[in-house]
Amino acid sequence: MDASERKLHHINTSSQLITPPVSSLLDEVFLLNDPVHACSPAAVDISTKFLGRVLKAPIIVSSMTGGIPEAATFNLALARMCVRHAIPMALGSLSPYLRDHDRIWGFDVKKSEPDLMLGGNIGAIAAADLELERLNHAMEALGLDFMFVHLNPLHELAQPEGDRHLHRAMDGIKRLLDWGRVPVLVKEVGFGLSKRSLDTLKESGVIWVDVAGSGGTSFLDIELSRPNHPDREVLEPFRTWGIPTAPAVMWAKEAGLRVIGSGGVRTGLDVARLLALGAQLAGVAAPWLRAWQDSGEEGMDHLYTVLETGLRYAMALAGAGTIKELQHVPRVLGDRLAQWV
Ligand SMILES: Cc1cc2nc3c(=O)[nH]c(=O)nc-3n(C[C@H](O)[C@H](O)[C@H](O)COP(=O)(O)O)c2cc1C
Repeated sequence: MDASERKLHHINTSSQLITPPVSSLLDEVFLLNDPVHACSPAAVDISTKFLGRVLKAPIIVSSMTGGIPEAATFNLALARMCVRHAIPMALGSLSPYLRDHDRIWGFDVKKSEPDLMLGGNIGAIAAADLELERLNHAMEALGLDFMFVHLNPLHELAQPEGDRHLHRAMDGIKRLLDWGRVPVLVKEVGFGLSKRSLDTLKESGVIWVDVAGSGGTSFLDIELSRPNHPDREVLEPFRTWGIPTAPAVMWAKEAGLRVIGSGGVRTGLDVARLLALGAQLAGVAAPWLRAWQDSGEEGMDHLYTVLETGLRYAMALAGAGTIKELQHVPRVLGDRLAQWV
């Protein structure tokens, strides 16, 4: 598959793979019912600050796509939805555009939505050899406010044409941190970040991570859905590989990092659980795609409302009037999660 075919395969397949091979363990985070201190959901303050901007809700649209014609209408609909609800959006990997500026489909959303808070995305291995001039150009041409750099070793191994230079990833991250034109946030793509990785990132000067843990979209399942995958036998056992989202968030917080929790965030209650574990924002990817494919932009707005309302209900029931208070409410961890942490 070439890069464009692969991207199309990702958007056509990911929304169909509804049952993840493992749990995010967010269902092992129990916030406590607090009827004495319960508050009105409408009065709960869910606004938060992210990189100096005020967001109406602690939710970010995680990186998905761009660089193929099919991405243009989807990304524009996402951008409009984000502006309506004052939340940020991240683009999918910019690598097609960085190689060829004609491949701008879905990346130039700020042309019509200038108020959007927009993040770019690039692979850490690719960043190791990237001409920074190209990144400067992309930043200015697309109006990027921040940049995600992704670590995706299992995803690279799961692609027959994947990049095997996994040891170059930290070089790429350091290069981007030195570049320093916009805030650089490090993310996985759905297999999580270990304690050791998180400590190394922190020591290298990284401030923000998106743990993108397992329990949501699995890029291994996406790649294995290709017919006649040559490595199927080797890869099948790795379907349960990865660090679930809940423990990864707790470790990232412990490491002293600012945290976005993503990977299997599907409900407003999930968002509340992540925030209670110490995340500042919750990232959601595949559900937007599914909502758009099922019911267009209206479906995206509906999903946003479901997430926001669920978060308000969880905070109201747990007696947390603000996100800060939510981060300090008591919680009980289930056995499986307790074992991880
Ligand atoms: C269609 C699709 C494409 C994606 N492409 C990228 C990408 O280009 N770069 C990246 O860092 N993550 C990418 N991701 C991963 C997401 O940003 C996110 O980390 C992961 O899907 C977990 O979130 P979810 O369970 O809500 O889908 C993609 C996810 C999907 C569903």
